[in-house]
Amino acid sequence: MFTNRNIVLGVTGSIAAYKAVELASRLTQAGGNVDVVMTKAATEFVTPLTLGSITHRPVHTDMFAPSSDVDMEHIVLAERADLVVVAPATANIIAKLAAGISDDLLCCTVLATRAPLILAPAMNVHMYENAITQDNLAKLRARGFSIVEPAYGPLACGEVGSGRLADIEDILGIIRQVLARGGDLTGKRLVVTAGGTQEPIDPVRYIGNRSSGKMGYALAGAARDRGAEVILIAAPTALPVPVGIEVIQVQTALEMREEVLRAAPRASALIMAAAPADFRPQSSAQSKIKKETAKLVLELVRNPDILSEVGGELVKVGFAAESEDLIPNATQKLHQKRLDLIVANDITAQDSGFAVDTNRVVLIDRWGNVEKLPLLTKLEVAHRVLGKVVELLGKGRTQSIESTNW
Ligand code: PMT
Repeated sequence: MFTNRNIVLGVTGSIAAYKAVELASRLTQAGGNVDVVMTKAATEFVTPLTLGSITHRPVHTDMFAPSSDVDMEHIVLAERADLVVVAPATANIIAKLAAGISDDLLCCTVLATRAPLILAPAMNVHMYENAITQDNLAKLRARGFSIVEPAYGPLACGEVGSGRLADIEDILGIIRQVLARGGDLTGKRLVVTAGGTQEPIDPVRYIGNRSSGKMGYALAGAARDRGAEVILIAAPTALPVPVGIEVIQVQTALEMREEVLRAAPRASALIMAAAPADFRPQSSAQSKIKKETAKLVLELVRNPDILSEVGGELVKVGFAAESEDLIPNATQKLHQKRLDLIVANDITAQDSGFAVDTNRVVLIDRWGNVEKLPLLTKLEVAHRVLGKVVELLGKGRTQSIESTNW
């Protein structure tokens, strides 16, 4: 993920400094070359030894330190950085950066770099909400800094409010998104659907399916990490909302249809990884159906086929959940729904399809090319699918329509 990317991790004097250890570890484990730069105050909360043991690289605390093994280290660090992230970022460092102060190594490094800059503030809620801090953050945003908003919750000072360092997952998501700038989906807007819709029987009961949303969420995250603007239209799932992605929550297939038809005209590509119900109860009861009756008969009616309704110039990708005759059935859907690509998955296999973390798929494009993929993680499948989407976007619709063999 971050192999051979040079990341400067600035750590400042917040109680959340201990969380920088986990962030440094995750970045290092993902292949990043992490150069930690600590303010003096940060060393009151976590030691350079701890961080150095994690990154296996020298930790920089003072540009005047005689032990410094790097001449003009702030310039060297600044120039080789692919990214500078300050986490946690105190009100003090935010104010100094906004004012262009360069009286310590971290400020000098930030001022000297041309790499993208990310701040993850952490502080008392009143300090964070103070107009001065907010003005400083607005000034830095206007200068291109990415700010990972603090989380809401109990604070070390005993208060409750916005000021907790954002979840490490969210910080990593923004890092991936920032490093993805210039990726092969930069400038593209992708609409991805995920999860299984819920078709109400009454206020308590619904007809659902086994989709967990993992495949769709993996596609959305992978597209973000390749530079795309992503709109994720999600049926209910137990998955955390991914950062850096516009998420539109829906429940029923009709709601999903409405959101897909609204978003599709502005999209470069649509990837329907969701499992919208094909049927819904003809009517759903306004109050909970009593269970006195020995039998409950439900009259089901067809839901519209969302993918078939989407027209226009965008690249259309569908998934085929099949339990038999995988390739013939998927190919038929490719043609019926006039898709550019269909991802066929055998949902009867233990390690493939619904709810599991892996998938075994066959990619079939509109020219009849068939690519059987081995068992992969859903993130790996997502990147393979997106590779095909990049190819299809490059081909454009006019060329592909002429040569299609629906
Ligand atoms: O979410 P996970 O637990 O990770 O599981 C992943 C998955 C198995 C749900 C996913 O890989 C998958 O196969 N999604 C498609 C499920 C589905 O509805 O397959 P289908 O063969 O019934 O539909 C074919 C295509 O038409 C799909 O792209 C589907 O989104 C779309 N469709 C289906 C019904 C409907 N009313 N409108 C649609 O547009």
